[in-house]
Amino acid sequence: MKLSLRLRTVCEEIEPCGVFADVGCDHGYCAEYALGQGLCGRCYISDVSAASLAKAEKLLSAYIRAGTVQSFCCAGLELVPRDAEQVLIAGMGGEEIIGILKAGFLPERLILQPMKNSPKLRAYLLENGYALTRDYTFFDGKFYDLICARKGGAARGYDARSLLFGYDNLHTPTRDFIAYLEAEAEKCRVQERAAGARVSKIEERLALLTEALHEAERNI
Ligand SMILES: C[S@@+](CC[C@H](N)C(=O)[O-])C[C@H]1O[C@@H](n2cnc3c(N)ncnc32)[C@H](O)[C@@H]1O
Repeated sequence: MKLSLRLRTVCEEIEPCGVFADVGCDHGYCAEYALGQGLCGRCYISDVSAASLAKAEKLLSAYIRAGTVQSFCCAGLELVPRDAEQVLIAGMGGEEIIGILKAGFLPERLILQPMKNSPKLRAYLLENGYALTRDYTFFDGKFYDLICARKGGAARGYDARSLLFGYDNLHTPTRDFIAYLEAEAEKCRVQERAAGARVSKIEERLALLTEALHEAERNI
């Protein structure tokens, strides 16, 4: 299976481990990648939708027959055994991911690709003993955030701006992040033109984006 740039970017963050879990696996491509690349000894796949899980079960049927993959139709981590060391949750909202972790358990390592509310997710992870080891934005038709976290890992200094935009984006910025800031600033300008007046909330957002752009440009 040829992975999209988004899925390839997510999958390239998977580290070698004993037990890997893909929560909200849908098609099962990430589990297939982890197994195919020899990155895990065993793998759990889960999805709240039986129809989605069935796609992954079909793709991974040989691994399931061999006992290398176990599948669980459940919400989040509800039925996923706690020996999963590395858990991937991609394509869900940040608040939904927080809900899944709160209701489930906190694995050693997380690979998260939230669709929104990344600042809330960063704050939750930091408050719950994780170091955010990778935290950046990439572009594949639209902008995505990717956050990798390790329990008790070496902490990096998160200030308010890193919480908002992602540590790596500010300290080792990429062209994708600069493009993200420019696109967000343009959205603000369009909103203000439509409003026909200066709107304080939009002005505040523009100021944050401009400060982030200056910090990123200093570090590029
Ligand atoms: C947008 S798809 C993302 C699929 C895949 N992870 C990816 O990144 O391409 C979201 C998947 O998560 C599943 N899902 C949504 N909420 C869930 C939850 N609370 N627990 C488990 N699966 C969930 C959906 O059924 C769907 O298959």
